[in-house]
Amino acid sequence: MPNQVQIGNTDLRVNPIGLGANAIGGHNLYPGLNEQANKELIKAAIKEGLDFVDTAFSYGMGRSEELVGEAIREIGKRHEIIIATKGAQRFIGEEKHIDNSPDFLRETVDASLKRLQTDYIDLFYIHYPDENTPKYEAIGTLKELKDAGKIRAIGVSNFSPEQLREANQDGYVDVIQGHYNLFHRDAEQDYFPYTIQHGISFVPYFPFASGLLAGKYTKETQFNDFRANMPHLKGQAFEQNLEKVDQLRQIANRKQAEVSQVVLAWYLAQEAIDTVIPGAKKTEQVLNNLSALEINLTAQEMNEIDQIFTSD
Ligand SMILES: NC(=O)c1ccc[n+]([C@@H]2O[C@H](COP(=O)([O-])OP(=O)(O)OC[C@H]3O[C@@H](n4cnc5c(N)ncnc54)[C@H](OP(=O)(O)O)[C@@H]3O)[C@@H](O)[C@H]2O)c1
Repeated sequence: MPNQVQIGNTDLRVNPIGLGANAIGGHNLYPGLNEQANKELIKAAIKEGLDFVDTAFSYGMGRSEELVGEAIREIGKRHEIIIATKGAQRFIGEEKHIDNSPDFLRETVDASLKRLQTDYIDLFYIHYPDENTPKYEAIGTLKELKDAGKIRAIGVSNFSPEQLREANQDGYVDVIQGHYNLFHRDAEQDYFPYTIQHGISFVPYFPFASGLLAGKYTKETQFNDFRANMPHLKGQAFEQNLEKVDQLRQIANRKQAEVSQVVLAWYLAQEAIDTVIPGAKKTEQVLNNLSALEINLTAQEMNEIDQIFTSD
């Protein structure tokens, strides 16, 4: 497959534009999802070269993993697809606890394997850090699972820089997934120097700032899901952010590209980032995102974009 990249130091090779699957079966996040359409979206994208899907137990409490597993099984290309999933949420009755203990990590990996209908997970992340488990111990457990062939690469998500260092004390962390986009750039200082130095790949989540950087929202846009409470999508902050997206649109127009494509190309030009996982609810969105691979930004365009989001 052309244009494949290696994820950090792992042996995983992917199309750098993956799919974030929290809107695939993520009924707890988005109302009114159509599961059949969700599966068709994955299959259509795979036919067009998508080979990296990012899911998690907590998207629909296992439903996203089940649908991803079904879609990949139906299309019959398990070995060509890189599946990333995440776990750490233990339910005791209705109550959710974050748990990184060795026993629970073994249990949750086994449960993900079943839901995904597979006998290996390409990339397994600890979704959130808990308060009690030493991070090197949690990662030691994932290393055992890796040696046993149940997972191929080790990830952490939402770990602070200190937790990442502790987790990686034996050098076993392959990937960190964290909040990063043009509006939210702390990771450049907080994580990138360390991850670059240690060959850990940084996978940004919310690459479109939950849709804002895909370039289609206006002042009139109303959100009927968890986005309704996001500060950057409300009031004056939303209006100021839309102005920045308009400036980005001028660059995109010059290149006869979409705002969303220019944004993805900007991330992929960062040394710390190998892959992106934009979410999508419609097949045309995921196909449109895949075609961002055709966009090349000059150093001057990279700078111009940087300036839009760093100046007040
Ligand atoms: N590790 C973690 O804790 C964590 C946390 C959050 C997310 N994630 C992962 O990161 C992935 C990405 O985050 P996200 O999906 O929440 O947010 P996002 O990628 O920033 O935004 C996705 C939204 O942008 C819109 N969109 C996408 N492509 C578009 C296109 N080409 N044209 C127009 N609109 C487009 C869609 O929303 P509309 O159609 O509704 O406008 C889509 O749902 C998730 O799917 C998940 O896998 C991980």
